[in-house]
Amino acid sequence: MTDCSCLEGLAREDLKGMEPYDAYYAPGIIRLDANENPHDFPTEVSRFINSQIGPQFYGRYPDPLARELIADLSGYFGSGPENIMVGNGSDELILNIMLAFGSGKKVFIASPTFSMYALHARVAGAVPVNVPRGPNFEIDVQTVLKAAGGDPGIVVLCSPNNPTGNAADIRDIEAIAGSVKSLVVVDEAYVEFGGESCLPLLDRYPNLLVMRTFSKAFGLAGMRVGYLLAHREIVRELLRIKQPFNVNSFSQLAARSVLKYRELFEDRIKAIIKDREYLVKRMESIPGLRLYPSVTNFICFKTAAPALEVYRGLLKDGVMIRYIKTPEGEELLRVTVGTARENNIFTDRLQLLLGD
Ligand SMILES: Cc1ncc(COP(=O)(O)O)c(C=O)c1O
Repeated sequence: MTDCSCLEGLAREDLKGMEPYDAYYAPGIIRLDANENPHDFPTEVSRFINSQIGPQFYGRYPDPLARELIADLSGYFGSGPENIMVGNGSDELILNIMLAFGSGKKVFIASPTFSMYALHARVAGAVPVNVPRGPNFEIDVQTVLKAAGGDPGIVVLCSPNNPTGNAADIRDIEAIAGSVKSLVVVDEAYVEFGGESCLPLLDRYPNLLVMRTFSKAFGLAGMRVGYLLAHREIVRELLRIKQPFNVNSFSQLAARSVLKYRELFEDRIKAIIKDREYLVKRMESIPGLRLYPSVTNFICFKTAAPALEVYRGLLKDGVMIRYIKTPEGEELLRVTVGTARENNIFTDRLQLLLGD
């Protein structure tokens, strides 16, 4: 190996402690760790997608502004196209938000929550500040206002929240948006499964931004399409730093097709909600579990046994869920609602593991 001492001092010091994102990859395992849609993608929709691919489709760059997809989203939400932006997954949008509005500032994050907010804040040279949620993971409005009451920065609220599964009261979000000088980002990645959307607040609070994704309810995690709705001035700032061809042609087409056939997905969403209720019942019958109420496609829980051991035990048994150590030091487990078969295998193995 070539001596690399000449690389010393080149990398950013402030990112030294950060680990690269490492999604576990294990073919053949039951994956209940990433909150994906477990249902097969509808054949009717994949047929339609294939029928739309012409001879120029692969050789040309995608539309950089995803105009047709944005027009469809605009029709879907009744908002102007100038209020919408799409990204290579909402992950990319989170980074863009941090780069455009956060660099050199503070990002107040209602915690525990999705880890990418803090990671992207650091990448953008912003300072993430975790603002602890209440005992049942509700947003603590007073603590958020106290923390974010000063100079403008960004406040990030995820609702329904990953990993805890609960939705915010939109009056709390309104109270925050109306009081702080910061950009208030509400991540509604799971809102199709439950909880109240903040979209109606957009007209009243120009500092509010609502982010969503095609990855969860609409089963397009592999295509990487997220979108956001906000005041046109906010969208304009974000477009300044957007990668030119961030959403590829296939993904734009897939997202448009999902919108066209959305009633097929609505049936799947209903099925997931029904399966979640069944999974909750099964889990409630296992002693030593504390379940948190969920309006999403996953369930957050604690075990009397050490959480990391439970996670590892299930993994050894071929079922992957998520182990989370929160910034506040709490240990949580999170299981995605899978197919009925996967949910049964998970609960059977969990029960065996916990020795009941
Ligand atoms: C709350 C939340 N926001 C955003 C994302 C990322 O979604 P996307 O696939 O659109 O990047 C996830 C993915 O797990 C999430 O849980």
